[in-house]
Amino acid sequence: MVESTGKIPQQGSAWSEIRDALENAGRGDVDWRDARTAVYVFNPGDDVMQVAKEAYAMYQSENGLGMAAFPSIREMEADVVSCGLRLLNAPDEAVGNMTSGGTESIILAVKACRDSARARGRDVLGAKIVVPRSAHPAFDKAAAYLGLEVVRVPVATDFTADVAAMDRAIDDRTIMLVGSAPCFPFGVVDPIAELGKLADAHELWLHVDACVGGYFAPFARMNGIELPDFDFSVPQVNSMSADLHKYGYAAKGASTVFHRNEEQRNFQSFVFDDWPAGGMSTPTVAGTRPGGAFASAWAVMHYLGVEGYCEKAKRVTDTREKLMNAIDEIPGLYTFGQPKLGLFAYGAEDANVFAIWGALNAKGWFTGVITEPQGIQLMLSPAHADVADDYIRDLQEALEQLGGAAAPSDGTPSYN
Ligand SMILES: Cc1ncc(COP(=O)(O)O)c(C=O)c1O
Repeated sequence: MVESTGKIPQQGSAWSEIRDALENAGRGDVDWRDARTAVYVFNPGDDVMQVAKEAYAMYQSENGLGMAAFPSIREMEADVVSCGLRLLNAPDEAVGNMTSGGTESIILAVKACRDSARARGRDVLGAKIVVPRSAHPAFDKAAAYLGLEVVRVPVATDFTADVAAMDRAIDDRTIMLVGSAPCFPFGVVDPIAELGKLADAHELWLHVDACVGGYFAPFARMNGIELPDFDFSVPQVNSMSADLHKYGYAAKGASTVFHRNEEQRNFQSFVFDDWPAGGMSTPTVAGTRPGGAFASAWAVMHYLGVEGYCEKAKRVTDTREKLMNAIDEIPGLYTFGQPKLGLFAYGAEDANVFAIWGALNAKGWFTGVITEPQGIQLMLSPAHADVADDYIRDLQEALEQLGGAAAPSDGTPSYN
């Protein structure tokens, strides 16, 4: 039996034994393959995951740091970026890069914004990014890395960005505004066009975080779901982040960051030549860039095509609607806002919603939670279409077990 001992074993083991050990190691993990997990994993079905996996393995050793050595990776990145830009209504001169994930895409957009402000003579130390309170913590991580400050502004009663309140939060230190499409806690899309007007009035960089919606919302729209403009069709949008490893269904380690033009993207890149190995220019945070992530994203895009993505998006939005309707019909439970994509959250009037989460978790469901207001959050995948009825049945059972008004729990359940 191969075991972790904290040191490299003196003698290696056979792959068959190691594979058994790896399988064993995962036995304590959530069983996302049965579609009872609605956070962290995007499950489009076995065939798509097989494509993502095999494509990753084919290019697992290739390195996107060396595009001269691997023109294949250069081409895949260019193609994926071009597909993303078209999907998000970008102008012809728009550009972008693949990154390791949403957080890296956001860090890069913030860096580009900061450095472009500095190039225009602004003092950027401690400069501010004004975001809705629902924006992802990646903006705070970026600010912490880059010497900036985030100002979080409470959202409106419909859980979208409160544009008037964001206006009031802008001061002469502000360099960036952010909206989400959609935000992680509630799944609602912020009013990007209004944020665009605000950005215009104050001459600010506007970033749209479409990490969740970038490769989902365009297809939901093609299916007839009505959404406000949220992408480069809003002329003031400078940059966007859109994750391939979420609703793009690529293997993990793949996102895209997009800029309206090359001039902006130049502020994202890092160039250095003062060492004994010559010049090194990197467009993203990473040095080595995993070839597998490029290949996996490219392969899944070409496997699914627009029709495949639309079909997956419909399964997800139908399931969300079904779950939201069923939950809203349960006395004492209510959904938050009007999410239109694959992510929603719900709360309880009298019962302790975290106790409900605990009871559902005991039945094998692993979902997100939110704290303001307290609620249970679900990020749905196509695979959830098959288990929506089971979830509602288990939710009703959980409520009966808890006797309506559940006893207070010890606090917020930890799901990360
Ligand atoms: C809206 C939003 N932005 C950014 C991120 C960060 O993405 P990643 O976890 O890939 O770094 C997430 C992750 O869930 C997200 O939901």
